[in-house]
Amino acid sequence: MKPLALEDVLDRAIVEFDRALRTVAGAHHAERPSPARDLAEADLDAAARQHSAALMRVNHVGEVCAQALYQGQALTARNDHTRASLERAAREEGDHLAWSMDRIRALGGRPSLLNPLWYAGALAMGVGAGLLGDRWNLAFLAETERQVEAHLTGHLDKLAPEDAPTRAVVAGMRDDEARHRETAVALGAAELPAPARRAMRAMGKVMTTIAYRL
Ligand SMILES: [Fe+2]
Ligand SMILES: [Fe+2]
Repeated sequence: MKPLALEDVLDRAIVEFDRALRTVAGAHHAERPSPARDLAEADLDAAARQHSAALMRVNHVGEVCAQALYQGQALTARNDHTRASLERAAREEGDHLAWSMDRIRALGGRPSLLNPLWYAGALAMGVGAGLLGDRWNLAFLAETERQVEAHLTGHLDKLAPEDAPTRAVVAGMRDDEARHRETAVALGAAELPAPARRAMRAMGKVMTTIAYRL
């Protein structure tokens, strides 16, 4: 493992800065078509539509945080193979960001007002985990992906059965998150201690509760 040189970090930071701006501004373009693309909008009543939009705002916040976590990873990774292997997952998170934003718009909702704050918090945590070394960085990523996957499964229970486009996006994202977790584990992620996993779940709960409203 090579030491992390300041100029490497600065070089990477310049590349990531543009991505950060687009993330917070909600101006991200998907590389893959949205799973909702060919599905007709459901005829939802106002309450169901608002509920769907709020759930997608929560998921969009999750994807803003995923951008920050993967950026933190890219900024601090010691191992070039690890960094390159996670690039695909990071690009897919960009798709999720755009897909969930599209759903928010289609449902007449708005993204979280606190996105810059979510982003900054997640980046600080991602860089913090990165400073502990790749094994712990990957452990944090893998556990995040596991919790997001479980959270998205929960949303499939909460979304109206007739809201096919939103359900398709959530299911598509969930499948990707499962693969992202497998990638992080295959790259040598450590197993996070149970108290850390519990703390992450508690934090996730606070975040989703706030983002549902704001
Ligand atoms: Fe994602
Ligand atoms: Fe993911």
